[in-house]
Amino acid sequence: MNDFSEMRCALKTLVENALESSFRDDAIPSHLAEAMRYSLLAGGKRLRPVLNLASALACAESSPGFAESDAERLLKAVLPFASGLEMIHTYSLIHDDLPAMDDDDLRRGRPTCHRAFDEGTAILAGDALLTDAFGFMARASLPAERVLEALALAADAAGAAGMAGGQMLDLDGEGGTLSEAELTELNAKKTGALLRLACESGAVLSGADPARRAALRRYGEELGIAFQITDDILDVTGDAATLGKNAGHDAQQAKATWPSLLGLDQARTRALAHSRAAAEALDSTMFGNSGHAGMLRRLALELADRTF
Ligand code: IPE
Ligand code: IPE
Ligand code: MG
Ligand code: MG
Ligand code: MG
Repeated sequence: MNDFSEMRCALKTLVENALESSFRDDAIPSHLAEAMRYSLLAGGKRLRPVLNLASALACAESSPGFAESDAERLLKAVLPFASGLEMIHTYSLIHDDLPAMDDDDLRRGRPTCHRAFDEGTAILAGDALLTDAFGFMARASLPAERVLEALALAADAAGAAGMAGGQMLDLDGEGGTLSEAELTELNAKKTGALLRLACESGAVLSGADPARRAALRRYGEELGIAFQITDDILDVTGDAATLGKNAGHDAQQAKATWPSLLGLDQARTRALAHSRAAAEALDSTMFGNSGHAGMLRRLALELADRTF
């Protein structure tokens, strides 16, 4: 493993451990806690929390007067916020898979929440993950004005003008043909908003200056487009065993996707161009070449080649 993969693994392990200890409260009806933990602890790339932690560190590491001991403290303080991001993402997956939405029966290599439990439980598990996520995020032990600003960003990214709105456009787009501008908007909202949030809020929580914050926001935006283009490509070219979710589902549901708009080859070229633009957003004169900014640059390029 190279240094950058080691950094990514270390952050992922931190997140896995934090998530593992969540929702054990006796006050939660056991059936509900079981469904929440079933979906939350089913693996997954943990991309959003890793981006969040890495963004916070990239800003701190490149700021004057940074010391190694600051990194430890910052990671510990941001972790509840990062965990909350994974809860919001997991809620979005549970609801995305419901019969009224994409009607999927496989997620993260196991039966979807509504298949393993029932629809009512899956809806409530999603509701509870989304709501409790804000409780986790609010408890990040950082200056209150930073936490409040990051929370407002989170509400906007998950809400009607963000991910929920994007999911609406996705459902409305079924069976139709969207223009490139319409598909770009759908993509930026349904997937881009949370990825951008993960990066920008990391900057906000670390107290970054406006230039670093803007760079991470741009990185997240570009990554968000690249990520959904690749997700759409993998639905055509991938298989369930590797993806952990069913392939060929977009065509079955007549979804508006990048391969259907551009063809596979052009969609691949487009994903790579946005991944490169993400990497370039983290200017090395501002962020340096090593550390977590380097990891984020590498991650953007690697995600264009991902197989799951
Ligand atoms: C899948 O997200 C849904 C999209 C937004 C494209 P991920 O590909 O990050 O799913 P997990 O978290 O690894 O399962
Ligand atoms: C979903 O996009 C994005 C979300 C907000 C969950 P998809 O419907 O393409 O995600 P998958 O392919 O089911 O993971
Ligand atoms: Mg969907
Ligand atoms: Mg889906
Ligand atoms: Mg998909």
